[in-house]
Amino acid sequence: MDMRLSIAELVRNAIEAAYPGAQGVPEDIGALLEVPPEREMGDFAFPCFKLSRALRMGPPMIAKKLAENINAPEVARVECVGGYLNFFFNRENFARDIMQAVMAAPEKWGSGEEGNGKTVCLDYSSINIAKRFHIGHLSTTVLGNALKRIYEFLGWKTVGINHLGDWGTQFGKMVCAYKKWGVKEEVEKHGVEEMTRLYVRFHEECEKDPALEDEGRAWFKKIEDGDEEALSIFRWFKEVTLRDAMKVYEKLGVTFDSYAGESFYVDKTDRVVNELRDKGLLEESEGALIVNLEEDKMPPCLIIKRDGTTIYATRDLAAIFYRKDTYNFDKCLYVVAYQQDLHFRQIFKVVEKMGYDWAKDGLIHVAFGMVSYEGQTLATRSGHVVYLEDLLARAQEKALDIIKEKSPNLENKEEAARQVGIGAVVYSTLQNSRIKDIDFWWDRALNFDGETGPYVQYTHARCGSILRKAPENLPAPDYKALCDDEAQHLLRLISRFPEAVSEACLRNEPSIVTRATTEIAKAYNKYYYEHRILDGELSEVAARVEVTRAVKAVIKTGLYLIGVEAPERM
Ligand code: ARG
Repeated sequence: MDMRLSIAELVRNAIEAAYPGAQGVPEDIGALLEVPPEREMGDFAFPCFKLSRALRMGPPMIAKKLAENINAPEVARVECVGGYLNFFFNRENFARDIMQAVMAAPEKWGSGEEGNGKTVCLDYSSINIAKRFHIGHLSTTVLGNALKRIYEFLGWKTVGINHLGDWGTQFGKMVCAYKKWGVKEEVEKHGVEEMTRLYVRFHEECEKDPALEDEGRAWFKKIEDGDEEALSIFRWFKEVTLRDAMKVYEKLGVTFDSYAGESFYVDKTDRVVNELRDKGLLEESEGALIVNLEEDKMPPCLIIKRDGTTIYATRDLAAIFYRKDTYNFDKCLYVVAYQQDLHFRQIFKVVEKMGYDWAKDGLIHVAFGMVSYEGQTLATRSGHVVYLEDLLARAQEKALDIIKEKSPNLENKEEAARQVGIGAVVYSTLQNSRIKDIDFWWDRALNFDGETGPYVQYTHARCGSILRKAPENLPAPDYKALCDDEAQHLLRLISRFPEAVSEACLRNEPSIVTRATTEIAKAYNKYYYEHRILDGELSEVAARVEVTRAVKAVIKTGLYLIGVEAPERM
């Protein structure tokens, strides 16, 4: 049931009746319908000035004539205010329609088929080998995961890709350092930390003995040439890094379909370079090869360095074509910090210049802002690095303290604390528009009363608890019980949830789902405080229990879509 569609239909019919055969009337009436800022102004408003040119008449007059031609059970009344036609739903009708529509498949409410037959590749998290997973990679990880779920919910086929940063001369140095001073057990035990120690030592020793640099380079050459020993050490570093990262991914419920990173594309860059040359796009500049982007008002895109090696951009170009060939994507999203904006604009432009039209709408940089932690920006050098693993562990501990205090009788407190702690971190990352910088504060993230993960989760658990107490074998619901302002507001929000999901997908903006879900939770709590769900006539109880069931399902979906679990009890 889509009220926007049915109101649009009414408007269309009214135009046809009042102005038979009128020309130039906009096609998509539904898109013109507005949701009035105040509830007193109705449920939907149609701005008649959008018709005044086609109908050659003032908007107030049009509103009046259309109003005379509207008579339908789903609308209780229409009002003409200025050039607007305001629609007031028939409350009982609306309640029945929306409840029946949701309850037909509560867990599917908001899903869609617009993505059927289409494929989206999502490049997210994309961590760097031999570096610890810190909060700088939190946003890309949870944003990408949320987008993947949202696209899937709308019928898209999704391919989640962790484009690992696993290529560069630093890996030669690391292997070299390991060969000189490394101990296998230490690397196994301390993972990335030990690799970092080796890397730092390499640089220290280089100051004493500059010849070491050459040795490091030689080891990287060995990796490039496929030397067995060099490769096996390098691969093992990768495994150890990923093993640690997996713990974080598991906690966050984040998955990938591919871990093809930069090294995977090294032998696939030739094809791009050759094609660029064939198409006359390569230019020599100070011994390097570039694509000139002057006419696009960008600095040149470096393709081959003076020493003949490829760079990050070259491998990303190879990845674009590999993904297009392999997955035949309709869209390929890059969930990467806005600092890399120029990089993506450059490589997308290069693909466009190569003559591939799909580059224009198909390649999308989903940029996001910076994360700081309790007022401190992330600065590796100054030592303010916050590791994700530690952050999540802290979140769990803190949540446990709060739960112990708030729900001393809860049975499985650890499980709830896991869901709430991690949910709080994820929710706060996806709460505001992605481009805004995030400052993470514990008190804010874990507040059970604000607009937070725990608050929404708590509402879900509250619904669960009410449903457990509800009498069995209730009669058919009497929807007159849902005609009050609070219930209607809640129902309206539920009815608009599908629009929120679609828009989140369209704009690659999961925060739209976060907000819609939070609004539903707030509206339900308000309803809960003003109405006794389980008291009164059984047929009325049945209606309120049904709303509770619907709210629980929609909140669960909303939380799922942003990658947050919904506890049954907390
Ligand atoms: N590893 C890079 C980083 O940490 C991000 C890679 C993003 N993906 C890409 N295809 N360039 O900054």
